[in-house]
Amino acid sequence: MADLRVNIGSMELKNPVMVASGTFGYGEEYSPYIDLNSLGAVVTKGISFHPIDGNPPPRIWETPSGLLNSIGLQNVGVKKFIKEKLPYLKGFDTRVIVNIFGTTISEYVKVAVRLSETPGIDAIEVNISCPNVKKGGMVFGTDSKSTKKVVSALKKVCSLPLLVKLSPNVTDITEFAMIAEGEGADAVSLINTILGMAIDIETRKPRLANITGGLSGPAIRPVALRMVWQVAKTVKIPVIGMGGISSAEDAIEFILAGATAIATGTANFYNPKTAYEIVNGLDGYLNEKGINDIKGLIGGMNA
Ligand code: SIN
Repeated sequence: MADLRVNIGSMELKNPVMVASGTFGYGEEYSPYIDLNSLGAVVTKGISFHPIDGNPPPRIWETPSGLLNSIGLQNVGVKKFIKEKLPYLKGFDTRVIVNIFGTTISEYVKVAVRLSETPGIDAIEVNISCPNVKKGGMVFGTDSKSTKKVVSALKKVCSLPLLVKLSPNVTDITEFAMIAEGEGADAVSLINTILGMAIDIETRKPRLANITGGLSGPAIRPVALRMVWQVAKTVKIPVIGMGGISSAEDAIEFILAGATAIATGTANFYNPKTAYEIVNGLDGYLNEKGINDIKGLIGGMNA
């Protein structure tokens, strides 16, 4: 087998394949379908200080090659996560990355502090890019001053590697990647969903109760790939690429564009084994090409 190990800050992953936040629950939901030990990392649903019920339904709408969602960051809250969800995940040989968010900087900080004090968590992914809430999320990730403030505040209190999940809903994503890097982020993950909407022409009602939602799936993959490429040549910290990845071929494209690791998202919903298949597919590709270390592939696009 080829050497699939990659490093994200001080964290080593046994392979570069993660599952994206919000598409894999808290891990346990998927364990009947995929061996969690095969994954480089599990990234949990976004965790806030208090539990959140999310937006009213309908919250999901399927589009051509894509999925619109407006979940509204439903989650169990940090206390219940630590008590009831984390112990299960700790039983696997995979990295545990906890996605976090808040409606204010002090809420982000409170969640990060609690998690930093808790054994069994390998890294924090900061969600500054959810398009489905009025406070927090994308509000922080589309304003450069807010991005700077939240990353800087978290860096001061967080002893774990800090990954910052960027929004594609900006004019120039490299500006936000540079801010995250400048404030001490250990990596950036991109892209979160692209703001979209759909209307039922019979009822003339929006398909989502929230009217707008985030578009994910293969429909956004070329946009995500372009942004990963732009960011990877701008910052020195690792880039975790995501956006419509559903096969090893897709993952290799992102790695060639400069991603150190990748995450599968929407594909987990219709093929829960996607991440496992990608790990095997990456190994097969490297063997076929006579490359013994995946690090030799990162940023290897011939332009
Ligand atoms: C949601 O819960 O609304 C989606 C999360 C996200 O896009 O960050």
